[in-house]
Amino acid sequence: MKIFLDTADVKQIEKWKDTGLIDGVTTNPTHLSKAKGNPRKTVLEICKLLPKGEISVEVTEKKPDAVYKQAKAIAKLSKNILVKIPCHRDYYPIIAKLAKERVKMNITLVFTLIQGLMMCKLGVDYISPFVGRWDDIDVDGVDVLYQLRHMIDEYGFETGLLAASIRGVRHFNEAIMAGSDVVTVPISVLEKSTDHLLTDQGIEKFDADWKKLGIRTFP
Ligand code: G3P
Repeated sequence: MKIFLDTADVKQIEKWKDTGLIDGVTTNPTHLSKAKGNPRKTVLEICKLLPKGEISVEVTEKKPDAVYKQAKAIAKLSKNILVKIPCHRDYYPIIAKLAKERVKMNITLVFTLIQGLMMCKLGVDYISPFVGRWDDIDVDGVDVLYQLRHMIDEYGFETGLLAASIRGVRHFNEAIMAGSDVVTVPISVLEKSTDHLLTDQGIEKFDADWKKLGIRTFP
């Protein structure tokens, strides 16, 4: 299972990259706007930081022809880029065209099983169901992860399931249990998910007990 960082914060990416656990990054217009600065520069910096990682960069144009052109330009920025395109019916023809041209794509804003199936049929690399945004409207967002996993396996599609809009530790756990190929996690959730009070207390207790021995060097 791959773990992506859901951020465009270069400093955080730099910090987490050293853990050896990060397989990629998902950016979006919101993240790039929060990061400030020139988005092209930020994207290139992220691509350079994780040369073997998969970096998702979203289109910002609206009209299909412009989205197509922008997708090609984004893909050209770096070999490790996947172009993020919203899962909207207006874009189906250009997604089909880009897939034929082997442009790597991560289809974003997927909410239903049927939307996911359509994208798998077009042969995209990843579909990103947004778990947290379902929860925002009082629907349990994790259900769609299980449905999409079943559909991908049942029909033998090669599209990867990328769990997105992960808002907390429960979502992260569910993304794992649902068999997602990738989970993209905001830094705050990653910190909460990897910290544990009992781990911290355990370290302190071992340290206190060890100090009782009065030994300076070991082994
Ligand atoms: O990568 C995009 C997605 O994860 C956004 O999450 O929290 O804005 O719904 P959120």
